[in-house]
Amino acid sequence: MPESSQQRLKTSIAVLGCGDVGATLAYTLLLKPICSEVILVDPKTSLVEAQVRDLSDASFTGGTGTKVRAGTHKDAGQADIVVITAGAKQKPGESRLSLLSRNLHILESIFSSMSPINPNTILILVANPVDILTYFARRLSGLPETQVLGTGTTLDSARLRGILAKKAEVSANSIDAYVLGEHGDSQFIAWSSAAIGSTPLHLALPESTQAEFRAEISSHTRGAAGAIIAAKGCTAYGIGNVAASICKYILFDQRTVRPLSFYQPDLGCCLSMPAVIGRKGILKSMPLVFDEAEKKELNDCAKGLRAIIEGAEKELVADKALEEALEAEGHGS
Ligand SMILES: NC(=O)c1ccc[n+]([C@@H]2O[C@H](COP(=O)([O-])OP(=O)(O)OC[C@H]3O[C@@H](n4cnc5c(N)ncnc54)[C@H](O)[C@@H]3O)[C@@H](O)[C@H]2O)c1
Repeated sequence: MPESSQQRLKTSIAVLGCGDVGATLAYTLLLKPICSEVILVDPKTSLVEAQVRDLSDASFTGGTGTKVRAGTHKDAGQADIVVITAGAKQKPGESRLSLLSRNLHILESIFSSMSPINPNTILILVANPVDILTYFARRLSGLPETQVLGTGTTLDSARLRGILAKKAEVSANSIDAYVLGEHGDSQFIAWSSAAIGSTPLHLALPESTQAEFRAEISSHTRGAAGAIIAAKGCTAYGIGNVAASICKYILFDQRTVRPLSFYQPDLGCCLSMPAVIGRKGILKSMPLVFDEAEKKELNDCAKGLRAIIEGAEKELVADKALEEALEAEGHGS
């Protein structure tokens, strides 16, 4: 069978970056198998080889048909889904935004090495700051907007469901509540649309209207990652599970609603809003009715993200000018 037909028979997910998050995602994809192969890519060749061997050992005990192998950026560019976990991570006390310059340069180099990218690939950004990187990945990948998304506040919303479930003594599955906006400090909780089952949150949990209750929960969802990183140096299981679930929604065309980061034409940036996700990526945005306070939080969040994007655009232009000047100098001498 020609190579290209064989490739079409396989469903593959490429994981770029196989540090803590990438390896945990690969392991999760082995445990709940949804694809034929997971391709791991990382410039640290001995690390990739070790991760492939260790993960393969976990697959030999049965229960999964998914194979793990090392690959190049070019191989990754042909996968059905490419998950980008490549990049620097926060040190204890560091903000996600401080990673921008380093991770934007890594993102640029990834797209030049992956090119030409499969036009049907769905890109999932995990590396931070995820909303800003999702914005630039749209441009750098050349893929349609609907095929480029970030995990955004899906993890923060899972944390919110977890804490509300505990307070209300119901299962987390019964909580319908979102953290929206930036996966970062300007995120906000859409309290006015939160519900347990179909009961509005303020009826199911009357204390949820109190300012102290809201402040405690917001600070929990905003600070959860920092507290875990301070104690163990990374967060991996939560995001590994979130990213693997998003891969499943895509490959199974599940049309699940999740708060994902994607381009918001009205706001000029990528941030998280509820969206329907399926085989072709973001199928549609699900509008929410916000109260006045939430509208302000959303606009402030978008304003902050736009300012960061403008700064990053200037840095990219300056880099390009420097590169061209160095090249011209090299040719001249
Ligand atoms: N979105 C979220 O909710 C969320 C949650 C946790 C972590 N993160 C982010 O995910 C990223 C990874 O975190 P981690 O703990 O796995 O970090 P890590 O340092 O353990 O792993 C990152 C890996 O990326 C690799 N890498 C660097 N350049 C690369 C390239 N060009 N191609 C492929 N791989 C490359 C590195 O060699 C390294 O192995 C960080 O930016 C972190 O902030 C996001």
